[in-house]
Amino acid sequence: MKHIMSPLDMTVEELDKLLDLANDIERHPEKYAHVCEGKRLATLFYEPSTRTRLSFEAAMMNLGGKVLGFSDAGSSSATKGESVADTIRTVSCYADIAAMRHPKEGAPLVASMASRIPVINAGDGGHQHPTQTLTDLLTIRSLKGRLNNLTIGLCGDLKFGRTVHSLIEALVRYDNVKFVLISPEELRVPGYIREGVLEKNNKEYKEVVRLEDALPELDLLYMTRVQRERFFNEEDYVRMKDFYILDAAKMELAGPDMLVLHPLPRVNEIAVEVDNDPRAAYFKQVQYGVYVRMALILTLLEVEVC
Ligand code: CP
Repeated sequence: MKHIMSPLDMTVEELDKLLDLANDIERHPEKYAHVCEGKRLATLFYEPSTRTRLSFEAAMMNLGGKVLGFSDAGSSSATKGESVADTIRTVSCYADIAAMRHPKEGAPLVASMASRIPVINAGDGGHQHPTQTLTDLLTIRSLKGRLNNLTIGLCGDLKFGRTVHSLIEALVRYDNVKFVLISPEELRVPGYIREGVLEKNNKEYKEVVRLEDALPELDLLYMTRVQRERFFNEEDYVRMKDFYILDAAKMELAGPDMLVLHPLPRVNEIAVEVDNDPRAAYFKQVQYGVYVRMALILTLLEVEVC
């Protein structure tokens, strides 16, 4: 039985196979409409979510399966002091697979060690968000045609943004991927990513503060919001929150094929006027999130579709 805690839980070959499956689901959804009949997905969300939880639920329903779970820890027995280990032991009696989001780093890993069913990390604190990474990889590969030979700008809260950490870990495995890390000094990518992932893998990267300086050289710009929920005080958040705003004027500095991605939710960091720019791909990204989660459920449940 396999769990997914990080994008590195899959080899590049396994990832390619998963993305191929997701593309086949996109092209032939009818082929997959009943393949999970009789199966159940549990969504255990101890932290708010719109896309991850609902796309997991949509994914299982698209496959003919059923869903159960909670979207708020306050409505679960966590409020009575139940551990994630005991919760997943219980849920293993009700469901075939579970997706868990938790504010504490490592909580889904703890759950996976006590589980009788595959557990998917749906975001743990500021640590990892592997299914967002699968979504990002599918979006990039589908729209750019490749995952190598790319210059990728990651902009915003690179300190607390778990989607950025997971994406860097996944992309260092591809050839000739260069990173431009765009953040204010206080929100730089953590040392364990800079030294432990980028430098360890001999990846070319630079850190800049001004988005305008980076835009002309990028194949892809990955915007992120400042993670209010992970700040220790509101004053720092307010000072940082509008540090970057991508608008139509800044988009003029970018190349004609530069894609704009964002894991969403967006706050102010992308002006609504950018949404109509053909390079804005963040709502297509949301749709790819459903296909890739369908592919992941099928893979972890070992459902073969002819
Ligand atoms: N991208 C993402 O994780 O969105 P939600 O927080 O809405 O799930």
